[in-house]
Amino acid sequence: MTTNLAHPGYQSGFGNEFATEALPGALPAHRNSPQRAPYGLYAEQVSGTAFTAPRAHNRRSWLYRIRPAAMHQPFRQIGNGRIVSRFDEVAAPPNQLRWDPLPLPTEPADFIDGLVTMAGNGSPLAQSGCAIHLYAANRSMTDRFFYDADGELLIVPQQGRLSIATELGTLDIEPQEIAVIPRGIRFQIRLPDGAARGYVCENFGALLRLPDMGPIGSNGLANPRDFLTPCASYEDREGDFELVAKFGGNLWTAKIGHSPLDVVAWHGNYAPYKYDLRHFNTIGSISYDHPDPSIFLVLQAPSDTPGVDTLDFVIFPPRWLAAEDTFRPPWFHRNVASEFMGLIAGQYDAKSEGFRPGGASLHNCMSGHGPDAPTFDKASSADTSVPHKVDATMAFMFETRDPICPTAHALSSSQLQPDYYQCWQGFHKHFNENQP
Ligand SMILES: [Fe+2]
Repeated sequence: MTTNLAHPGYQSGFGNEFATEALPGALPAHRNSPQRAPYGLYAEQVSGTAFTAPRAHNRRSWLYRIRPAAMHQPFRQIGNGRIVSRFDEVAAPPNQLRWDPLPLPTEPADFIDGLVTMAGNGSPLAQSGCAIHLYAANRSMTDRFFYDADGELLIVPQQGRLSIATELGTLDIEPQEIAVIPRGIRFQIRLPDGAARGYVCENFGALLRLPDMGPIGSNGLANPRDFLTPCASYEDREGDFELVAKFGGNLWTAKIGHSPLDVVAWHGNYAPYKYDLRHFNTIGSISYDHPDPSIFLVLQAPSDTPGVDTLDFVIFPPRWLAAEDTFRPPWFHRNVASEFMGLIAGQYDAKSEGFRPGGASLHNCMSGHGPDAPTFDKASSADTSVPHKVDATMAFMFETRDPICPTAHALSSSQLQPDYYQCWQGFHKHFNENQP
């Protein structure tokens, strides 16, 4: 059994060649598919990249399981609930948009029931782009299991812990931690706190990876050792269960007579992982001005164009602001990239009010935004000869190369703030051509 002493139940590293077994000797030695695997297990490979992807980016794992993944009844299509996978059905407005937090459900809802799609771009069938969902749930998944063939799931809890039991082991996460479930990996989400709420980015494109560091060097941002992948654990459970799949933008269900979380041992580099955002090593200015927000990049999904990502996951953690003669909050800007933001805890330093933990905002391609008027006034007269700590906060951004199209639900939601634009209406004219 492989365990990491610093992290019982987890193996440390990003994209490593992990090897783990829940029973001694369950991993075959020197063979991926021996004629007979130990303990009477079935050997099965799951590939997350093209077979011929460059070695540095090639991801696959070998699973040794009680029954093969193919063993289930035929799938039949079911309703998609509030999950949307087409983003051309309503016109995307260039307005700045902001939403209040999603209310917790009043009816029983598990993680899958509780998903509501807010926005997205690209297409799962084209394996490009992403969907951005919120979730609010109050019930553990018990007799049903889920996998997403359309993309990997980046889960960002805002309220309540999640225990994510996957084929490859269990990830326990709390707010300020994230989890990534690879495309196709079957899992079940249990709610130790009873109620849970947060954000999910469903990445249809290339797998999320750690960014290159360039002039920063070999240390900083998210350190590989802080990414944790579960050790193998399995359940040998039979019953009338349900396997739900998201495939081609739709939900499908199949009866399955056993728990698919029956992998006794596995090795490889295609696996779920978690990361504690509080371990992020923030880089920032200690002289003047702001570096671009790419210095807050945790994970990126690259496109075919060098330097252009289909998806960036960026965080704004607690940090010292020490730049002199500088407007310290995020400045006014417009980008070719589009920005969907969420707030996990505290207050975001560009908005004095209105952006609440669990809420969200969307600033699309070339839509002007930045600090609100009270923040601008305060920062313009702040004493920048002394450092200031931005503390007790954690905001994040899903940033994409393509415009992010809100869904019909998001645009008609009662959580949409109709007066958001007002936060930029209070700027006084300071210009005087006679006073340089
Ligand atoms: Fe922005």
